[in-house]
Amino acid sequence: MSSLIEQARAREWFYAYELPDGSVTPTYHGVEIQAIHDTRWQMLERCFDQHMGADRSGLSALDLASHQGWFAVKMAQAGFGRVEGIDARQAHVDDSSLIADLYGLQGLSFRQGDIHELDPLALGQFDVVLMMGLLYHLENPVGALRTCRALCRKLCLIETQIVPGMSGWVDYGGYQYVRPLKGSFGIIDETGDTHGPEASITGICLVPSLEALLWILEKVGFSRVSVLEPPADAYEQLLHHKRVMVAAQV
Ligand SMILES: C[S@@+](CC[C@H](N)C(=O)[O-])C[C@H]1O[C@@H](n2cnc3c(N)ncnc32)[C@H](O)[C@@H]1O
Repeated sequence: MSSLIEQARAREWFYAYELPDGSVTPTYHGVEIQAIHDTRWQMLERCFDQHMGADRSGLSALDLASHQGWFAVKMAQAGFGRVEGIDARQAHVDDSSLIADLYGLQGLSFRQGDIHELDPLALGQFDVVLMMGLLYHLENPVGALRTCRALCRKLCLIETQIVPGMSGWVDYGGYQYVRPLKGSFGIIDETGDTHGPEASITGICLVPSLEALLWILEKVGFSRVSVLEPPADAYEQLLHHKRVMVAAQV
């Protein structure tokens, strides 16, 4: 155990994990960023209480873009019987696996994978699918949302940065074929940042407006979609609607 703790202390972390000896993992972002993780977990817990009941031992969960495992670990600690995390970066998978070993959590595993390459038929379905902080780093967000739907049996939670939306009417080929805009995407350039631990792996990022996100979620097959209310003391981005968490039910 102590050598696992030493290994954890020797690495740098996005999340402030409390280790079994009471110390906390050294983070590379400073303490204030931890508030976004705490707010999001608070919102998830409230949503699970509402939709999943108290006994979650028979439920499975998938954390897409699991990074160093924060939400997958929380889900395992909250009683989900089987939790799997997938992230594009192998280094994150190694760090998450170290934390899972340190906490001695059963039924929790991590693997490397790019959301755009996943095969839902091979992976199967999970009762809960999380996609926190990933959508706005992707060049194919619609495909990723289709993948979420294919992997989801009950409830999918998507948390993402959003951009201000455009609305209005478009002469779609000619004035006889006028169509309403259903939302919009902003393009963000991360091509110079792909080495970063939180970044896109390709650098071309399409960030949806809220209207676009909600409309696409329904079109890819979720039956009910709602925006979760942030708590009064939420991290500023969630409080001021720069990021949202959306619950999509199958
Ligand atoms: C901003 S971090 C979010 C991490 C975590 N879900 C959270 O909300 O705290 C983005 C994560 O997405 C991962 N990622 C980026 N592109 C990916 C892709 N195409 N498929 C899977 N994971 C990806 C990164 O490695 C990183 O761990």
